[in-house]
Parts: sequence; structure tokens; C-alpha cells
Amino acid sequence: MEYQELMKKAKKVSKNAYAKYSKFKVGACLLTEGGKVYEGCNFENSSYGLSICAERNAVGSAIADGEKKFVAIAIYSPKMYDCLPCGACRQVLHEFEIENGMDIITLGKEDIIVRKLDELLPQGFDL
Ligand code: THU
Repeated sequence: MEYQELMKKAKKVSKNAYAKYSKFKVGACLLTEGGKVYEGCNFENSSYGLSICAERNAVGSAIADGEKKFVAIAIYSPKMYDCLPCGACRQVLHEFEIENGMDIITLGKEDIIVRKLDELLPQGFDL
């Protein structure tokens, strides 16, 4: 799967985000080792701390389907160029990245930007 295509899916699913409080919609699309894709969007709650990020929502869908090795994730928000995952999501993604590391794909002003998760979360926690 092309990273451009992954970003297109993240963009599409961001429309379904439930961002009633922050008005900050986010969509994410995960790519597994076997080439499957799983989407997620953020959904908020009137008890603010219960809100779930798009990235972790996508991870949950993949895990529920038996997938645990991720190659890449595309993240999109209509409100921000280069929308990077929050610290909590970085650690959650680290848990399931492939041996070579996961690619984090965002959308800059011109084109997509590809980074390694390790750049965003050096020395992530492992047990
Ligand atoms: N959010 C995400 O879904 N992903 C991110 O990477 C950053 C933040 C959500 C959480 C909350 O619903 C809203 O964006 C504002 O923080």
C-alpha cells in the first residue's frame, strides 16, 4: 500500500471523528506487516479525560482483528499540517512496531512527511 493511499484513508476517516468539545478532528490509518489497513478517528466525551485519540482507536481495531505488527500509520487533521501523535499514542504504537521500526506519516503543506517512530519516541518503554 502506497503511503499516499494510506493518507487518503486517514483523511476520509477523519470526517467521522466525534470531536464535540475540542473541534479537532483526527483520522489515522494503520498498515500491517501483511498489508492490511485499519482506520480510526478520535472520539471525545463530556468527561474530557475519557477521549480516545484516532491512533489508539485504529490500533484497537487492528488488535481486535488479530493484527499486532504494524509497518506504518498515517495521521491527518483538517486543522493542522504535520499532525504528529501525542506522547501516549507514541508509546502505544511502539508496542506493536515491526523490527525495522514503524513509519509515521503526516501531511505537510506540500506533501506527506515520513519519520521513524524512534525519532519521535527515542528509547520507548519495553518490558
Ligand atoms: N488527538 C488525536 O486523536 N490524535 C493526536 O495525535 C492528537 C490529539 C485528539 C484527542 C482530542 O480528541 C483532540 O485530538 C484534541 O486534543
